Amino acid sequence: MDRIRITGGAPLQGTIPISGAKNAALPLMIAAMLTGDTVELRNVPRLADVGLLLRILGNHGVDHTVTGKRPGQTAETGQTIRLDASSVIDTCAPYELVSRMRASFWVIAPLVARFGEACVSMPGGCAIGTRPVDLLLMALERLGVTIGIDGGNVLAKAPKGLRGAEITFPKVTVSGTHVALMAATLAEGQTVIDNAAREPEVVDLADCLNKMGARVTGAGTSRIVIEGVSRLHGTTHTVMPDRIETGTYAMAVAMTGGDVLLEGGRPEYLQSAIDVLRQVGVEIDPTNEGLRVRRDGARLRAVDITTDPFPGFPTDLQAQFMALMTRAQGTSRIRETIFENRFMHVQELARFGAQIRLDGDAAMVDGVEMLKGAPVMATDLRASVSLVIAGLAATGDTEIHRVYHLDRGFEALEAKLSRCGASIERLRAA
Ligand code: EPZ
Repeated sequence: MDRIRITGGAPLQGTIPISGAKNAALPLMIAAMLTGDTVELRNVPRLADVGLLLRILGNHGVDHTVTGKRPGQTAETGQTIRLDASSVIDTCAPYELVSRMRASFWVIAPLVARFGEACVSMPGGCAIGTRPVDLLLMALERLGVTIGIDGGNVLAKAPKGLRGAEITFPKVTVSGTHVALMAATLAEGQTVIDNAAREPEVVDLADCLNKMGARVTGAGTSRIVIEGVSRLHGTTHTVMPDRIETGTYAMAVAMTGGDVLLEGGRPEYLQSAIDVLRQVGVEIDPTNEGLRVRRDGARLRAVDITTDPFPGFPTDLQAQFMALMTRAQGTSRIRETIFENRFMHVQELARFGAQIRLDGDAAMVDGVEMLKGAPVMATDLRASVSLVIAGLAATGDTEIHRVYHLDRGFEALEAKLSRCGASIERLRAA
């Protein structure tokens, strides 16, 4: 397996182009199955998860073409994928694929909404939690779907089609909101989703669905109303920039010091993280190219955070922020409220000499002056990039194992960091 070696200490200077958002691209690709027309998605990031989802969609009979870079586009310009779900065959996506790409379970929504039936493997848990799908299935049942479980597969049936309903989520769920939203576009009548997720990726999905002929209002608020239509048509849609990648690189600059333009970053997508970083002592200035992030030599200040659904502090930036706090002045209390096991990075950060104590759903981080490079292991996507952030500031060499986790969600990470002065290289497995 590939490894990444980092020699810490260099400040980051220059420009980092922000890629299309993984967590917008995945639901958008799945939404393409709601129509038999072609859906063209632009600025799709080159990520392992995107490739895996294309394989899973192909398993259901979705054809796709990927166009390379057009003349004048830079290496960072996202890829354009044209998806054609005109001849979908519903076969159960195999467990070994779905378990690696949890979001692929969401294909249940377009399959049952458009064809009246679906057979999808239960996704199972993952490193950060059990990740149940009970709320996704509750939403579908409210829309008139009968759900059965057989041999680890979910069998969903709606032979008479879906009918609009009131769906109230007891807790905010991004996946539940995506599934309810996609299915409701083809349901008979009106659907109201209460306590909906407000994440920007939900808004991006709703925008694309409306361009496909759906009638969705209220996306981005906790109450979304959908007037069902009989069919959707093709469209062209550009994937929004990745707010988690933006926040991740902002924390990398905060950690190393320096001055970097995060090109294409949108402040309105990560205002809570920007507010926290300013309290830490980082200068973040929106410009018309994106976000400029600066930090001079002054010591970082410890700040407490609690993760929350959007617009709160995103759980997907929690590990990265913890890495930053390992060198802050004082003690930071980091509380994780979304997932029950999202502190896998604590033991790995401790190998750099970080002082972190776990206390239930909170981690207490006592900042230290210096971290020392060490061999460490990535455990999940966002935890792995927190090790990169620590390695960038640690003295000496850091070697990160199991970097396939990184490749799931960060496009061209070594290239983007080394062009800003980081000493980072990938050691290809023999
Ligand atoms: C999405 O996961 C993201 N993944 C996650 O990013 C992100 O951390 C999460 O939203 C929260 O923002 C994608 O978009 C592909 P949820 P999702 O449904 O939709 C519980 C990354 O690193 N829940 O909002 O699965 C669930 O266990 C990934 O890119 C139920 O109990 O998250 C969790 O505790 C990691 N029953 C909470 O709700 C359900 O049926 C929030 O989950 C569904 C969820």
